[in-house]
Amino acid sequence: MAGRCSLQYLLFTVVTTLLMLLSSTPPSTARRIPSKGVRGAYWPSWRRQSFPPSSIDPSLFTHVFYAFVLPDPSSYHLVITPNDDRDLPVFTATLHDHKPPLQALLSIGGGNDRATAAFSRMASDPSTRSAFINSSIAVARRYGLDGLDLDWESPADTKQMGDFASLIREWRAAVEQDARRSRRPRLLLTSAVYFAAHFFSYGAARSFPTAALRDAVDFVNVMCYDYRGSWDTSTTGAHAALYDPNSNFSTSYGIGSWLAAGMPREKVVMGLPLYGKSWTLRDPAGHGIGAPAVGTGPGDDGILTYSEVVDQNAASGATEVYDGATVSTYSYAGRVWVGYDDPRSAAAKVEYARGLHLGGYFFWALSYDKDWSISRADSSAARGGIFAIHAMVGLFKM
Ligand SMILES: *[C@@H]1O[C@H](CO)[C@@H](O)[C@H](O)[C@H]1NC(C)=O
Ligand SMILES: *[C@@H]1O[C@H](CO)[C@@H](O)[C@H](O)[C@H]1NC(C)=O
Repeated sequence: MAGRCSLQYLLFTVVTTLLMLLSSTPPSTARRIPSKGVRGAYWPSWRRQSFPPSSIDPSLFTHVFYAFVLPDPSSYHLVITPNDDRDLPVFTATLHDHKPPLQALLSIGGGNDRATAAFSRMASDPSTRSAFINSSIAVARRYGLDGLDLDWESPADTKQMGDFASLIREWRAAVEQDARRSRRPRLLLTSAVYFAAHFFSYGAARSFPTAALRDAVDFVNVMCYDYRGSWDTSTTGAHAALYDPNSNFSTSYGIGSWLAAGMPREKVVMGLPLYGKSWTLRDPAGHGIGAPAVGTGPGDDGILTYSEVVDQNAASGATEVYDGATVSTYSYAGRVWVGYDDPRSAAAKVEYARGLHLGGYFFWALSYDKDWSISRADSSAARGGIFAIHAMVGLFKM
């Protein structure tokens, strides 16, 4: 009797929990979130000659971001170049022809001064915000895209953080209105953001408007890389360290700060670099992380794609080291030192993200991988289990 009672109680609890989950989930998004979380990647359009959109392997991803288009500096309408006009239809077709179809998003901005300047002016005024938002929705619908990604790197002070909040709130309202009018699924809205929720480098101290982000975007792509680079050539460094006992420049600190600031974990998507950073060692005998260096090493500004790292390691007979303390990989050959992620360290980071029940992960950038080796390692790690809480809601709805 006691057994039956508790079974009934259990059933009751399960059913009411399911009902609560169902009623609190907007159907348009739950249906479209993949059951194992986000496996995203940015496609860099400036490498279109060697890596056209038709080269994307859609079996490895759930969301692909076309990077980048820019707003016109005076009208703030999106500028679609003839190359974009040719490649966007191939991009969406490549992603949509796969079963199940991938989400194709248009990423606006990027880490360049022109984009940053245009965003700060546009976001400061309601009428220019409205012109920008309308243009972005019109472009997304014209090319059959599933969503829009804001890559403003980065609002420079507290005032601009407030403008950023207004922009994303108005944008969310506009994509909702567009969905009702067009009777089509709502466009996804995402934003690429700094590795931490608060800036303690790169200018004024300032914080992201996490309440506005939580309400307005489907998820944030947290840029968990570039902690070290050519601006400091005095020592080598793990530019995407998961852990750093000596500083707050680490993915664990950054992700932790987003969660502490109130960003729901299923809306936090962790970035993984498909590139390394190189230094020239002062002395070939000192070759650890933090070893003395005298300059950058090979690559433009000391940056090498993972594919270039693998080729260079092979050509130079470099020694490769997995560093468990930072969860990163480095190689050295003579005075050349490169810090990067390989399939092992990348998969360990995916495990970390899954352990925290984050929304998933994304790569910067498509075409930098070596024969998909990291993309594949991660996607099989991620397939091993349920990634995010909202993924479970999505499963129950089917
Ligand atoms: C943007 O679109 C909305 C809804 O259609 C409209 O009310 C508004 O005037 C438009 N804004 C601009 C600047 O064109
Ligand atoms: C890291 O951040 C924490 C709180 O956010 C702060 O208390 C601490 O001093 C910081 N550590 C360093 C090395 O800057």
